[in-house]
Amino acid sequence: MPPRSRPELPPGLLERLRRAADPSGFVRFDRFMELALYAPGLGYYARERSPLGPAGDFYTASHVTPLFARAIARHLTAIGRALPDGAAASFVELGAGDGALGEGVVRSLAERPGTDRRATYVIVERSGALRQRALQRLRAVARPPQVSVEDAGSLAELGPVEGAVIASELLDAQPVRRFRRTEGAWVELGVWVGGPTLVAAERPLGRPAVEGLPADAAEGTVVERSPAAESIVREIADHLVEGRALLFDYGAEEAELLAAHPRGTLAAVRGHRAIDDPLDLPGSTDLSVFVNFTRIRAAARGAGLAEVAFERQAEALGRWGFPELLDAALAAASSEEERVRLRLAAKNLVFGFERFRLLELSPARAGSPSAS
Ligand SMILES: C[S@@+](CC[C@H](N)C(=O)[O-])C[C@H]1O[C@@H](n2cnc3c(N)ncnc32)[C@H](O)[C@@H]1O
Repeated sequence: MPPRSRPELPPGLLERLRRAADPSGFVRFDRFMELALYAPGLGYYARERSPLGPAGDFYTASHVTPLFARAIARHLTAIGRALPDGAAASFVELGAGDGALGEGVVRSLAERPGTDRRATYVIVERSGALRQRALQRLRAVARPPQVSVEDAGSLAELGPVEGAVIASELLDAQPVRRFRRTEGAWVELGVWVGGPTLVAAERPLGRPAVEGLPADAAEGTVVERSPAAESIVREIADHLVEGRALLFDYGAEEAELLAAHPRGTLAAVRGHRAIDDPLDLPGSTDLSVFVNFTRIRAAARGAGLAEVAFERQAEALGRWGFPELLDAALAAASSEEERVRLRLAAKNLVFGFERFRLLELSPARAGSPSAS
């Protein structure tokens, strides 16, 4: 197949990619994805324009209905109540985006604190523009000192966390390495940046060896691995001392991914449409993958976190009272049109996001919060 013709890259991004290349001009896919999404001033998430919502490129579960946040707030309240006596609860959201989830949670906590202890909702968001947007939204609904809002550059900056670490659709937005089975061996996929435009490229696996790539995979199979997503889980383990981590994302176990997506799961999206070529317009195109929960669960176990639940997101929401919250919202609705909207949004969250899972973790020695 002749190489695709792609537009020339913005010079700043090309320069950054060349710095990340080996002497032959090859850049590993995870390094390409890191720069395409997050390079300061150049990456997709570094732009002023929000990628989220109707005017952006995609929706997340947080944008479908405020009942998502309300159900999570109920569970956070239970987690806060179960903390050792006297501890103020910190709820830290990693990858808070435009603050849609955080705003809903803070609003719910402020309306019905449900706990006798103070809570701080902290956002950690890599994009400066999104962080500002989120902070503004959250501060508008906070009720200090009972429920206050802060931001932080990282979990490490906060020290030991007693409460919860929450992340929704963060792991799927982490850079991945991509490997393809070619002539009975695994090769690493990436891009070649020797010319003015990007060219898809591959090279033999370098060192250190990549463990666990399936030896019996069929020719052409593509496997994705995200060291960045796994290290986020290890970072949570390092800092969460009491409470829970709630990781919401779409994905599956590795065996299921291999069977259902033998060419990999990398998706490129722009303007709410799937783009065929993931190298098209880097910096203006969202790139994401299905989360490999086999790897994420193993990373959590290896870091000493205990698994409390691994289930469909809809099941977790059910456990946390989503149906009752929907009934209450329907009862309070002032028109039939509003009731129809509420039902449609709830249906979309349950069925439209059916590939979504919750992985709930606790520090191995933590006590268990009472179920809400
Ligand atoms: C797909 S968006 C999801 C946003 C939001 N959680 C939601 O569900 O609407 C992923 C977000 O994670 C942020 N992000 C990615 N890696 C991060 C990291 N290591 N620390 C903090 N934020 C990060 C991105 O900037 C982006 O806002």
